Amino acid sequence: MIDRIVNAGAEPDEPQEVELEVTLRPRDFASYTGQERLKQNLKLSIEAAKKRGEPLDHVLLHGPPGLGKTTMASVIANEMGAQIRITSGPAIERAGDLASLLTNLQDGDILFIDEIHRLNRNVEEVLYSAMEDFKLDIMLGKGPSARSLRLDLPKFTIIGATTRTGTLAAPLRDRFGMIHRLEFYKPNEIQQIIERAATILNVEIHKDAAEELSRRSRLTPRIANRLLKRVRDYADVNGDGIIDTTLSYKALELLDVDELGLDTADRMLLEAIIDRYDGGPVGVETLAAVTAEERSTIEDFYEPYLMQIGLLERTPRGRKVTAKTYQHLGRKQSPAMQPELL
Ligand SMILES: Nc1ncnc2c1ncn2[C@@H]1O[C@H](COP(=O)(O)OP(=O)(O)OP(=O)(O)O)[C@@H](O)[C@H]1O
Ligand SMILES: [Mg+2]
Repeated sequence: MIDRIVNAGAEPDEPQEVELEVTLRPRDFASYTGQERLKQNLKLSIEAAKKRGEPLDHVLLHGPPGLGKTTMASVIANEMGAQIRITSGPAIERAGDLASLLTNLQDGDILFIDEIHRLNRNVEEVLYSAMEDFKLDIMLGKGPSARSLRLDLPKFTIIGATTRTGTLAAPLRDRFGMIHRLEFYKPNEIQQIIERAATILNVEIHKDAAEELSRRSRLTPRIANRLLKRVRDYADVNGDGIIDTTLSYKALELLDVDELGLDTADRMLLEAIIDRYDGGPVGVETLAAVTAEERSTIEDFYEPYLMQIGLLERTPRGRKVTAKTYQHLGRKQSPAMQPELL
């Protein structure tokens, strides 16, 4: 994937081990801005679980990248006062890997499985009974002499995270007591996140500059934090370190992030739909070919935000742009697309 400042994916140097990151990642509900409904639901379940002295039900968090799934997993662990172990779907290659992870847990521990949609089928099947009955079924030997063995597991909680629930097998989905979608943030929440980050990073940012940054952050905390850091760099080099509107405007210009948070790659995608397919609909595979991106990149990184702000629509026959897209790109709609002229 091309290098994009507005890419909602994690940078290679972003600490993924939630225990290790001490900087911008919120540690508790109080510092986790937004996602109010999710927080309310979780607070209730956490309180109830604590009252009963039981582990929390398994939680599945899904939604576009950079919205705070990993962060929420660590917040839950923190609020439960539980230990968290972190792994990911692709890291658990064989059923035996899962078995050793699970048998090493203690009562009340949380096992965070990132990218849970990428688990192997045979690993997934072991997980079913582990999640449901806290039992581990293992097969010893092969062929006619094979025997199965049932082990008791500690009472743990699985928190799964995925950018796509569509690809999660139904039996796995069904074993989660709580399934929550993380939503894009509201602009004022993003502004709060930027102001909090600025305080932690010890940078001075004017309120209207924070507002400007929040408009261009794709309603995504990861991008908000990243833009803030880049604009801070600009302010340190080209100014006195203080971020005001003039300065943030110039920095954002240099980063080529427009008023809606789109970069060249987004515009290329939208322009391809307009120029080559008369606004669409066009299949996602074709779009992937035209933009030289993976289909999954288009689906995970481009589409959710473009759809959220109404620049792209998903129809049964493919993706199409909207009147707002033409307007934003300063393009004229071809007469055939204007219903009033038909
Ligand atoms: N609610 C929030 N308030 C403040 N900062 C947040 C919030 N949510 C996320 N962040 C910040 O955004 C960054 C990205 O969040 P996180 O890694 O949790 O996203 P994610 O949903 O797990 O993304 P991915 O799908 O790529 O794994 C975090 O490092 C954190 O600093
Ligand atoms: Mg994550």
